[in-house]
Amino acid sequence: MTRKLIVLTDPGQDQAAALLMILGAPQAFEVLGLVATAGNIDLGYTITNCLKVLELAGRSDIPVFAGCPEPMTRRLVTAEHVHGPTGLDGPDLPEPTTAPAAGHGVDFIVDTLRQAESGTVTICSLSPLTNLAMALVKAPDIAPRIREIVAMAGAYFEVGNITPSAEFNVYVDPEAARIVLDAGIPTTLLPLDVTHEMLSTRSRLDAMRALGNRCGVATAEMLEFSEAFDLEKYGWDGAPLHGPCVPAFMLEPDIFTGRSINVSVETRGQLTEGMTVADWWGITDRPKNAFWVRHGNSDRYYSLLNSCLANLP
Ligand code: BDR
Repeated sequence: MTRKLIVLTDPGQDQAAALLMILGAPQAFEVLGLVATAGNIDLGYTITNCLKVLELAGRSDIPVFAGCPEPMTRRLVTAEHVHGPTGLDGPDLPEPTTAPAAGHGVDFIVDTLRQAESGTVTICSLSPLTNLAMALVKAPDIAPRIREIVAMAGAYFEVGNITPSAEFNVYVDPEAARIVLDAGIPTTLLPLDVTHEMLSTRSRLDAMRALGNRCGVATAEMLEFSEAFDLEKYGWDGAPLHGPCVPAFMLEPDIFTGRSINVSVETRGQLTEGMTVADWWGITDRPKNAFWVRHGNSDRYYSLLNSCLANLP
């Protein structure tokens, strides 16, 4: 049975890899639409970047909806220093031949969840959670209709990547992350704790490029661009590959280990805004609200990613 997905995304090279992984697993996923999010770069670019990735994969039939141009209560923080001035620098990707879909991304989330059979639509979040939180505020009745949220968000044992204590997707819109985590929806988080184990080593990128198809080659080239910043920053053999952890978890959850815990988002700390406080040891009596993925098998992860990319043009 395919899983119906709404994908929230602000590509971003790692997210382009995640989108292509999803599109390369049509037996597992039916993508109802993408909601372009302001995050790594401003909304204008993320809309175009979504369209370009779909064009690359030959899937411009999938609608792309524009979400909110800003986080719920803050000014947008972006990450051109990692992803380049367009947010998706690296190889030349095909120009989009289609336009964004009519309507707002928040309304697309609400309408889709209200129209689909309850419990059948999964929210796959690769980005800040602004648009999902806005949808939950606008239409709280959608919460019990969501099958599950699977999100790349947060950090605890690996601490932060945009501040010493916060992971980028949560830092951009901590109020949104808090609303989503407090909504009582089954949620899995793929935090930096696991994405930092998924290093894009030379041999892994070479294997991706050697797939020889345009999606495999372009993904390797995109990741080569974005990994430069992280290679310098961390001094590891490869850069963490964040976004594809989300589809990988849905495709083969036994690649990963974690546990159900309480995760609370710091929205007002002087030094800790956007921190995901993970009660790993059950120290508080706060309710468990997320499955927190802690570790993963990186060889299986990259081999799964490549097997999906190989299915694409
Ligand atoms: C997240 O931040 C973004 O820059 C990446 O695309 C990923 O979604 C990792 O913290």
